[in-house]
Amino acid sequence: SWNMGSFIEQTVSEIKEQVGDKKVLCALSGGVDSSVAAVLVHKAIGDQLTCVFVNHGLLRKGEAESVLEVFRNQFNINLVYADASERFLTKLNGVTDPERKRKIIGEEFIRVFEDEAGKIGEIDFLVQGTLYPDVVESGTATAAVIKSHHNVGGLPEDMRLALIEPLRWLFKDEVRRVGEELGMPASVVWRQPFPGPGLAVRILGEITPERIALLQEADAIVTEEIARAGLDREIWQYFAVLPNLFSVGVMGDERTYAQTVAIRAVYSNDGMTADWAKIPHDVLGRISNRIVNEVKGINRVVYDITSKPPGTIEWE
Ligand code: XMP
Repeated sequence: SWNMGSFIEQTVSEIKEQVGDKKVLCALSGGVDSSVAAVLVHKAIGDQLTCVFVNHGLLRKGEAESVLEVFRNQFNINLVYADASERFLTKLNGVTDPERKRKIIGEEFIRVFEDEAGKIGEIDFLVQGTLYPDVVESGTATAAVIKSHHNVGGLPEDMRLALIEPLRWLFKDEVRRVGEELGMPASVVWRQPFPGPGLAVRILGEITPERIALLQEADAIVTEEIARAGLDREIWQYFAVLPNLFSVGVMGDERTYAQTVAIRAVYSNDGMTADWAKIPHDVLGRISNRIVNEVKGINRVVYDITSKPPGTIEWE
């Protein structure tokens, strides 16, 4: 039967042999696959690995801090942290079309990633968290990574690196077991899928720092309450969405006119189809109360009960 310890041992020795004394680069997204791949490669070659983590300013609350904590402090991995929030926000100023948002973020991501990679010096290999079910398209290594994170094509041809794909024979559940065996925290190993363009596709309409902050607060409450109810491993994705919707409410004796937050939560195996999650009403009630009471600027919470198809998981 498949044995975790021997998989790790064998993969580590293969990576050592493949890399020799060369240098390796990894684009870390904070997601399960790239995180486990990075830790595995680091176990094999230590400081010959450099990870680059780009913060586009559209991450969830506390996400960048937690990536830094895990990879720098816990695993002692060389990590270049590029906080490019301002660059992305400037580019996104006034943009409301979902596909334009994706394109801008994807292209800017490549620029930031290449800038940072260029500062590291001679690199020969790129780590990719490709899993067995992933269909690997042809193209450059960078193209493959960025495509998988941001769904963009037409990338520069100049970064021709050999790939290291330590997870290419594994399914998702096996990757999680490898991560656990490597001592990675549950918050990483059981992290829910998060789209490359991040909160940009959950903020309908214009993306402003204020709207990002509002959504991050509401989303953090959803995450906390789903975890507290013990539902975080059975629900595939659970998050808050900020539709561009204002409505009337009442707070004390005051009428309010403020934004609506939508809660999205689905069961799924692969994201291709999904059922809306049957979250107990008391859990939904707690989420709603907390958001309206704790997040200034929100006076209404609705629950999305659309499955996929015909709905999509994300709202954009
Ligand atoms: P939809 O919304 O198409 O989402 O039902 C299916 C799965 O894909 C994720 N998703 C994305 N992931 N870049 C990504 O890396 C994207 O632009 C993107 N759009 C959707 C979504 O979170 C879900 O898991």
